[in-house]
Amino acid sequence: MGAWLNRIWCEDALQGLARIPDASVDLLIADPPYGLGKDYGNDSDKLDAGAYLEWTRQWVDAALPKLKSNGSLYIFLTWRYSPEIFVMLKQRMTMINEIIWDRRVPSMGGSTRRFSSVHDTIGFFARARDYYFDLDAVRIPYDAETKKARSRSIFVGAKWLEIGYNPKDVWSVSRLHREHRERADHPTQKPLEVVERMVKASCPPGGVVLDPFMGSGTTAVAARRCGRNYVGFELNPDYCALIDNRLAGLDKPEAA
Ligand SMILES: C[S@@+](CC[C@H](N)C(=O)[O-])C[C@H]1O[C@@H](n2cnc3c(N)ncnc32)[C@H](O)[C@@H]1O
Repeated sequence: MGAWLNRIWCEDALQGLARIPDASVDLLIADPPYGLGKDYGNDSDKLDAGAYLEWTRQWVDAALPKLKSNGSLYIFLTWRYSPEIFVMLKQRMTMINEIIWDRRVPSMGGSTRRFSSVHDTIGFFARARDYYFDLDAVRIPYDAETKKARSRSIFVGAKWLEIGYNPKDVWSVSRLHREHRERADHPTQKPLEVVERMVKASCPPGGVVLDPFMGSGTTAVAARRCGRNYVGFELNPDYCALIDNRLAGLDKPEAA
C-alpha cells in the first residue's frame, strides 16, 4: 500500500492529485463546489462561469488518469452547470447514467418565478465498457407487503423478488437536516446512504476510492464503513479536522 493511501491531504486537489500514481484508483467520487457562491471558508465557490468551467476542466484532466481502466466516476452537480460538464466528460468517458438525487426537501413556500429546485444531478461515467459494477451489492429488498402482494403462483420463487430491485436512477434520500445524527458542521454534507451506494456498486471490496473535494469526509467514512481504501483532498483546515474526527468516531465501539 502506498504512503498516499488512507489519508486526507489538507491541500488543493490540483496539487495533491500529483501524489497519486496513475491507474491506481477504482472509483472517483467528486463533489466539487457547485459554482453557486457557497461559503466553504475559502473562495473556491466564487468563480464566474468561464473560470469555473476552466477550473473544472483542469481538475478533471488531472484526476481521470488516476482511474484504473475499469474504473468509474460519480460527480455531484446542479442543473446550472451539469449540461456543460456532462459534455466535457462525454468527450473523455462513457456516460452510464444521469442520477437524480431527490433531496426530499419539504414543501414550504419556495421560489415564485420558477419551480423550486430540490435535486442534485449526479453523472455516472466509466472509462471503458468492462467497468466494475456490482448491482447485487446495492439491490433494495422488497418489503414484506410487496412480497405478499406478489404471492400469486406466477411470482412464487421468482429470483428478482428474493434478491431485491435495482435502485433505479432517481434516488430519494433525505438531505441531512440540522438534527440528523450524521450531520457534521459542513454546508453541503452528503448522506452516507447516497455515497455508500456508489462505493458498493462501483468499487470492489478492498479497492480504492478517490475524492478530490472531501468536505466533511463523507466519502472517506463511507469507504471505511464498506471495507474500501480512500484518499482525498480538502482545502479548508477546519474541515480537515472535522474529517479526522469523523474517521476517529468509526473506531469507537458504538459506531460499529
Ligand atoms: C461540495 S463540498 C464537498 C462535500 C462533501 N461531499 C461532504 O459530504 O461533506 C466541496 C468541498 O471542496 C472543497 N474545495 C474547494 N476547492 C478545493 C480544491 N481546489 N481542493 C481541495 N478542496 C477544495 C471545499 O472547501 C468544500 O469543502
